[in-house]
Amino acid sequence: MSKIISLPGLIDVHTHLREPGATQKEDFETGTKAAIAGGYTAILDMPNNPEPTITPEAVDKKISLANGRIYCDVGFNFGGTLESSKYFDQIKTKVMALKVYMNHTTGTLLQEDPHALQTIFERWPKQRVLIVHAEKDKLALAIKLAKRNGNRLHVAHVALAEDINRIRKAKTEGLPITCEVTCHHLFLTNADTKRLGPFGQMKPDLGMKQDQNALWKAISDGTMDIIAQDHAPHTIAEKKSEKPPHGVPGLETALPLLLTAVKEDRLTIEKLIELTNTNPRKIFNIPQQEDTFVEIDMEEKYRIDSNNLYTKCGWTPFEGVEVKGKIKKVALRGKVVFENGKISGLFGKIMFPAN
Ligand code: NCD
Ligand code: ZN
Repeated sequence: MSKIISLPGLIDVHTHLREPGATQKEDFETGTKAAIAGGYTAILDMPNNPEPTITPEAVDKKISLANGRIYCDVGFNFGGTLESSKYFDQIKTKVMALKVYMNHTTGTLLQEDPHALQTIFERWPKQRVLIVHAEKDKLALAIKLAKRNGNRLHVAHVALAEDINRIRKAKTEGLPITCEVTCHHLFLTNADTKRLGPFGQMKPDLGMKQDQNALWKAISDGTMDIIAQDHAPHTIAEKKSEKPPHGVPGLETALPLLLTAVKEDRLTIEKLIELTNTNPRKIFNIPQQEDTFVEIDMEEKYRIDSNNLYTKCGWTPFEGVEVKGKIKKVALRGKVVFENGKISGLFGKIMFPAN
């Protein structure tokens, strides 16, 4: 028995396509194939490449490299540093948002100096989204800076109950603040860390059961605005090395995991659409995509198998997990781009901010 339902194309505001500089992990073609296979028709790329997106030249290079090689729509996020803040006026029409790294992670964009942070927050256009990776005291600082400078703050990959509380409080005070949660933080905890080894290592770290519960509660009480993927692929060899890098892929496993949660009554389909399409579109001003949808067989069960993934890294922390809800077809602007496991078309467009 099958039960086919249709969803709007999903939007991921947090993807690492890795090009230029780390194409052994992913590139524009493989990353956007993974997006389409996972039901995502629009994604935002992060700036923490070995050649970081922190100059106008780096933005132009991203745009020209992506041109003609993308299967879904792609927009770019700019990296916020003291140096890069002098280019904000120049690049604001070419990038969708700013990303500021206030905690340590992959790449070289960590900003710790409070004066530098103040300058970055002050210079970024106030009506445009300023994304932070900020945990605990760093999140408290980000909220303080956003309040002082009047920014539109968006908190990436929230993982801790205490950080949900900080965001809830700021929202209650009327601050224009939004946040996102990843599927690895929703479906894994530190109890999985031992089993997964380096393949379960990412930033922020997996939380405790009580953190996971707080994330689900934030979805049901409306505190959580977006489910994002933080698709951060690394090669198997890199993950097995002495010093494994942080990050896990997620674009192809998110929707089946979330549909399984719908089946288990942990999430409604309306909430899923709100957090993966309506809200990301509204918050990041993502252009409308006409005739763009995902068809799913809600009754089809299968096991997640890395052999069937398009991501170049070739693994997933959800290997072997049984899910219910199979993506059968994806259409982008009226053209079928995914059917029976096969991808076609290079119809992706580069997205630019509407204003
Ligand atoms: C990301 C990466 O590998 O680029 N890693 C991660 O663990 N999440 C960087 C990031 O988003 O923090
Ligand atoms: Zn990330």
